[in-house]
Amino acid sequence: MSPLSRRAARQAPPPPASAASDWDAPELPPVARFAHGSRVPGWDDAVDLTKDPAVVPDLATTPVPTGLRETVEAAMARYPDPRSASIPALHAAQHEYGWCSPEAIEQVAAVMHVTPAYLTSVATFYDMLVTQPKGANDVFVCTNISCSLRGADELFRAMNVAAEDDDEITVRSFECLGACDIAPMASVNGEYVGPLEPADAERIVADLRAGKPVLEAKQLRNRPTADPGTAAS
Ligand code: FES
Repeated sequence: MSPLSRRAARQAPPPPASAASDWDAPELPPVARFAHGSRVPGWDDAVDLTKDPAVVPDLATTPVPTGLRETVEAAMARYPDPRSASIPALHAAQHEYGWCSPEAIEQVAAVMHVTPAYLTSVATFYDMLVTQPKGANDVFVCTNISCSLRGADELFRAMNVAAEDDDEITVRSFECLGACDIAPMASVNGEYVGPLEPADAERIVADLRAGKPVLEAKQLRNRPTADPGTAAS
């Protein structure tokens, strides 16, 4: 196309409304959202202004499990500024207690010599650190664009239904988990599985309850290539 005809095409009027409306948009399920409009929790927790200013907890009077203390100290030793270890330290506390409880944050703060408020600001910012009690198993269903186009909202709904009576399974929708080639996918306790169908939700719950590896045949680690025509070696 010559530059002149390209310009003419750019300046052409939009197609008439009747032509545009010939396309019937498919009916999509509503996206599950929290009351504040986001698909992730925690954006509307108000600050408690009646609280006293936080102080750095005294390690001598704060009981910290030995294993947790060692893990936090090892993380701090890896960085020139020990505060850079905040995320791995909080992750270790979450692993120990199941969530970043106020006590867990207090303990990490004592080891790291920072205020609990500093660590709370980190824990409430990052999506994979949780400051509310939750089940021991995490199922993150990716509902971002690639997964959404391949049925993630239906999968998310099926997953919620399958796990609704089980307090030990926390189901959340998640933004892109970086495995779009196996869309729609989920992270089950960190194990990436996909491509999934709504019927896989029951199996995920059954495997978690049985303490088995989840959907082994659909685990990303067992998949040498995203090409479904290529057999796993
Ligand atoms: S959009 Fe789901 S993994 Fe990227």
